[in-house]
Amino acid sequence: MAQKKQLLASIDVGTTKICSICARVEDGKIEILGTGWAASRGLKKGVVVNLSETIDSVKASLEEAEKQAQMVVQSAYVSVGGAYIRGINSAGETEVHNKDGEITSEDINRAVSAATSLDLGEDYQVIHHLTRDFQVDGLDGVVDPLGLNGHHLSVSMHLVLNASAVVQNIVNAVNKAGVLVDGVVMQQLASSEAVLSSDEKELGTILVDIGGGTTDVAVYNRGSICHSEVLPMGGDLVTKDIAIGIRAPLQEAEELKRSAGCVFPESVPAEELIEVTEVGSGCRRTFSRRRLCEIIRARCDEILKAVERSIQQVGVDKELVTGLVMTGGGSLLDGVVDLAEQMLGLSVRVGYPVNVVAHDSPVFHPAYSTALGLLQYTQNVQSPVVAKPVKAQGARPRNTRIRMKSWFLEKIG
Ligand SMILES: Nc1ncnc2c1ncn2[C@@H]1O[C@H](COP(=O)(O)OP(=O)(O)OP(=O)(O)O)[C@@H](O)[C@H]1O
Ligand SMILES: [Mg+2]
Repeated sequence: MAQKKQLLASIDVGTTKICSICARVEDGKIEILGTGWAASRGLKKGVVVNLSETIDSVKASLEEAEKQAQMVVQSAYVSVGGAYIRGINSAGETEVHNKDGEITSEDINRAVSAATSLDLGEDYQVIHHLTRDFQVDGLDGVVDPLGLNGHHLSVSMHLVLNASAVVQNIVNAVNKAGVLVDGVVMQQLASSEAVLSSDEKELGTILVDIGGGTTDVAVYNRGSICHSEVLPMGGDLVTKDIAIGIRAPLQEAEELKRSAGCVFPESVPAEELIEVTEVGSGCRRTFSRRRLCEIIRARCDEILKAVERSIQQVGVDKELVTGLVMTGGGSLLDGVVDLAEQMLGLSVRVGYPVNVVAHDSPVFHPAYSTALGLLQYTQNVQSPVVAKPVKAQGARPRNTRIRMKSWFLEKIG
């Protein structure tokens, strides 16, 4: 029987931009059919602060993707972020009930439920239950214990929590833009799927996604995630520092950061000048480019020190990680990879979404890692991505046939 082509959609609800992607999956290969990009107006540090502006931004990015793909998106996987995210490691254990010692799915469920029963109250919810490994009679590294023999079964898990209101506000915004939410995925988990190789995850790698509002950290070792954290600082703070430091409009500060900025001020000749517009008066004047780079460097130092603290906090031994992969728009800042190598003592590379698109694709860019990784995540991860079903409040699907769990899109006409 011929395999049915699966149509997928993803929406990365970022602080700087909202990115929607329509894709077709056949035999595990993802083909991008349409991408939409819109400036994100209603979020601060990954959290919705203005619902109507967020809805408008989601709609604008969706419409562009739908137009390109010539499809109507009914439901999509959506990224969530924000500094309320907490990643915790948890363990559960059980005696094997079968007299002959063969481990059954009931034994596995008991161990997993011991590891995941947390009393979180109303304010927090678990958005991911990620199994790291199982141990059978003390032997660790067991990937799937079903059918193995033993007396005692334990499981190590990584649980990702987020504030329930933060998740619900993202879901509401997407619903009110006319799309149902199939599931939410932590941003760095999605980005990792797009940029890390399975060898990197196995050997130990740190993923750092520097976005506009937040810097998202995920640490992988022995094939699974062992630490996740969202730091409430990103590239937009660098832009703001520039705007304040040289008294320039934000848009111009952003352009200067990209065109003339770098993190090594000492490499810039002291006499080199750049032209800037003075905020308010609109007068043109000159400013030291080295000073611009000093402003950038100060904030980058702060962000990278926070990354280092995040890694140290979980006792990640640098011996256990082979390197760091930096993605998100902020990873393109001139020199930031070298600075991270110096400060963290690790080998660092920029993470492009190689697992999803080819080098010549227009979305082959670190800022698209999360949106593309969302598509990849739905293909790779077999376990449910949402532990607690997200409420589809106020959904206004644009199609009269509502299909709650459908990932499929309908061709127009
Ligand atoms: N070439 C570049 N040089 C320096 N910075 C850049 C460059 N391109 C993008 N950025 C910065 O990347 C940031 C946006 O990155 P990205 O699009 O990944 O953020 P986001 O996903 O919308 O935000 P978040 O993940 O924090 O919610 C902005 O601060 C922007 O200034
Ligand atoms: Mg992002």
